[in-house]
Amino acid sequence: MPKVLRSVVTAVGGYLPEQVVSNDDLAKFVDTSDEWIRERTGIQQRHKVRDDEPVSDLAVAAARVALERAGKTPDDVDLIIVATTTPDLTFPATAAIVQRKLGCPVGIAFDVQAVCSGFVYALSVADGFVARGRSKCALVIGADAMTRLMDWNDRGTCVLFGDGAGAVVVEPMEGEGTADDRGLIGFALRCDGTKQDLLYVDGGASTDGRIGHLRMQGNQVFRHAVVNISEAINSAAADAGIDVAAVDWFIPHQANLRILQGVAHRCGIDEDKVVTTVMHHANTSAASIPLAMNAAVEDGRIQPGHLLLLEAMGGGLTWGACVVRL
Ligand code: ACO
Repeated sequence: MPKVLRSVVTAVGGYLPEQVVSNDDLAKFVDTSDEWIRERTGIQQRHKVRDDEPVSDLAVAAARVALERAGKTPDDVDLIIVATTTPDLTFPATAAIVQRKLGCPVGIAFDVQAVCSGFVYALSVADGFVARGRSKCALVIGADAMTRLMDWNDRGTCVLFGDGAGAVVVEPMEGEGTADDRGLIGFALRCDGTKQDLLYVDGGASTDGRIGHLRMQGNQVFRHAVVNISEAINSAAADAGIDVAAVDWFIPHQANLRILQGVAHRCGIDEDKVVTTVMHHANTSAASIPLAMNAAVEDGRIQPGHLLLLEAMGGGLTWGACVVRL
């Protein structure tokens, strides 16, 4: 069988801002309670950026960890993709700012905007470069400061989100073209633009010129998430040529404990295989999957050769899944 080029995730890193905000902290100024938030979402706390801490700083911190673990330096990096909904500036892309701050050579750098699905979308875009031999060392970063988009008077949304960044290094390696290869081996990406009103930000550069606030019909998003993510998971598994039951770790977007348990149950994934970090940092949008991956690598659960299933859903509505063998 002819060899094929695969995009292999060789390292992961994460970063959470220092400031921790507990549910009780929020209950001091919003009509909510620690009990309600834990029961409905599993969230116990979130991290929050300082006023002078742009998303590029979070991205750079996560990227430095991933590069060091991959044995790479900024000089090696020829592609940077940042998945974010909360860029430092309307332009340039946050990826360009990250390139400057890391001191990477002139290469390719741009952002991907698919909200909470951004990291899965960005991985598939990186695969288009790496698996065609057009990048030797790519940084794929999910970074968001969702607290900047909150309406702090809306208890239905402001308790759900937090800030953070996660990064992976992706490098080309030859494989056999089978499901046993290391690398990104299966994808399914989806968007249904007719569902915009369920989850969006009510401002923008070409409409009212404001940054805006996040607006969400939570229970409808919840319903859509459990049903449609399951379909994308099965499609990604078919694309990879694997059985969903064969995955070692399920790494869902960390939005709500009940959503990720519901999806796992619907797809027949054992509870012990679900990586859950939402309690520690709430919904960090595009950062949540690499942050969860990072946690399970750091505590030794994820090992080389393991088969991972990633999934996410976010504004758009966008959603998708990806199968990765480390
Ligand atoms: N504290 C206390 N009570 C609250 C709070 C709160 N923080 N928020 C809402 N409530 C109240 C509501 O006002 C309502 O009260 P009422 O019955 O008197 O009218 C009651 O709780 C029930 O509200 P629901 O919205 O029906 O509660 P639900 O069980 O659906 O939980 C939640 C709400 C947690 C938002 C849930 O719907 C959810 O998690 N949805 C998915 C949201 C999500 O994950 N979005 C992110 C997607 S990713 C992205 O791209 C951004």
